[in-house]
Amino acid sequence: MKTILCIGAGYVGGPTMAMIARKCPEYRVVVVDIDAERIRAWQSDRLPIYEPGLQDLVKATLNKNLFFSMDIAKGIEEADIIFVSVNTPTKTFGQGAGRAADLQYWEKTARQIKAHAKTDKIVVEKSTLPVRTAEAMERILQSGNPTVHFEVLSNPEFLAEGTAVKDLENADRVLIGGHDTETGRKAVKALADVYEHWIPRERILMTSVWSSELSKLAANAVLAQRISSINSLSAICESTEADITEVARAIGMDARIGSRFLNASVGFGGSCFKKDILNLVYLCQHYGLNEVAAYWEQVVTMNQYQEDRFVQRMIAAMFNTVAGKRIAVFGFAFKADTGDTRESPAIRVCHSLIEERAAVVITDPKALNNARKDMADCGDKIVYEEDPYRAAEGAHALAIMTDWAEYKALDYRRLYASMSKPAFIFDGRNCLNHRDLFEIGFNVYPIGKKPLSHL
Ligand code: NAD
Ligand code: UGA
Repeated sequence: MKTILCIGAGYVGGPTMAMIARKCPEYRVVVVDIDAERIRAWQSDRLPIYEPGLQDLVKATLNKNLFFSMDIAKGIEEADIIFVSVNTPTKTFGQGAGRAADLQYWEKTARQIKAHAKTDKIVVEKSTLPVRTAEAMERILQSGNPTVHFEVLSNPEFLAEGTAVKDLENADRVLIGGHDTETGRKAVKALADVYEHWIPRERILMTSVWSSELSKLAANAVLAQRISSINSLSAICESTEADITEVARAIGMDARIGSRFLNASVGFGGSCFKKDILNLVYLCQHYGLNEVAAYWEQVVTMNQYQEDRFVQRMIAAMFNTVAGKRIAVFGFAFKADTGDTRESPAIRVCHSLIEERAAVVITDPKALNNARKDMADCGDKIVYEEDPYRAAEGAHALAIMTDWAEYKALDYRRLYASMSKPAFIFDGRNCLNHRDLFEIGFNVYPIGKKPLSHL
């Protein structure tokens, strides 16, 4: 029986390994982490992350051929293939602070692998990394351990949170970057064999290591660019009374453009878009490609502008002051179907509202604990409320930050009745029925559309 190890039991490591364990019963899959609480949670009924379908997936394989453990050394010793799926956040200190990837967790992992490997290993970069990181990985691994051969592959992950299980099961493509050498080709084949258990062969793409590393950064940059593009157009819509939904539909029907990922919003969040674009920007600057760097940086600038514009519009609509007004923030997760709040636009919006001295109440079906941590610096200025109806009581406005399905199903007559008048809704996701809300009595402010106002 072959053994696969994954170092890093996070949003990527956990679901990806659960899927491999499910699809490849003849492999033993071990996931290790330095975070004891996380490992315990993976072994329990309360998984450390929320993803639709994940609980069942883990349950089906846990302690059969899927194991979670803290014993990293033993894991490395026993494994044939080692996935590295540790976090690679933006560096907050020193050279490249605010842009470059912080590679300290990744480097520690490389050193651990070197220290404990006694037989040849295939080491797979699953984390998103700057281009040519594999070269550094190889140098660390090969230094002082001449009896063991390490073959480094790049195999970036493209799953999106909230749909991780679906994305893993039915991936658009699996990308494997390897060296064009005998050992490189052999390693690529060994990894492709794993995925071929459920991914059609024509969707398994093999490239050079550098193309694979860059493709991951490029995919996120291009996806985020689409959102910034449509959000920039939403600003023109608000000034001209064009409607962003109509514009998105009209351009999206052009097969060359395509209709997906063109939903205007309060801004994109998530742990990766901003981080990976800034990583790309840093890389461009490193190679002296300053115009290319400036081009991609604008995608992030536009996103921040969109978040700020949302708050400015709220203030302007509410008679230029929100001081002392209760504002119910509906949703704190960066998107629906996840409890993750990393880089959620709600963070910046709530901070701005607190600066304006609004009385902020946050409600979210899955992300309240993370919201408390993200907004800890605001202390008791923010109230956290599980029940959206209670959050809305006495509020002057509802600000929809996450497109949770449950928000579409709320009784808006009941919400309206309990609110201060005039009552406002700022729909940061364009996910509600604006005409119905207007008829109930709300003053409705969507993104990139003319407001429906009684005033
Ligand atoms: P995460 O923070 O959820 O998980 C990373 C885990 O690695 C943590 O549990 C941490 O404790 C562990 N870790 C750190 N150093 C370690 C070490 N030396 N030994 C053992 N464990 C260690 O991060 P994530 O969201 O899973 O992202 C991981 C990587 O995958 C990142 O590079 C990210 O860019 C990329 N990625 C993420 C997503 C996503 O949707 N979150 C999607 C695609 C790619
Ligand atoms: C994104 C990519 O979609 C994944 O392919 C990639 O693997 C992942 O980043 C990563 O590298 O971490 P994720 O951030 O989980 O996945 O979620 P997305 O569905 O991409 O949404 C990101 C943000 O953009 C969310 O805040 C979402 O609400 C927003 N968005 C998305 C829009 O505002 N409009 C859209 O049309 C689509």
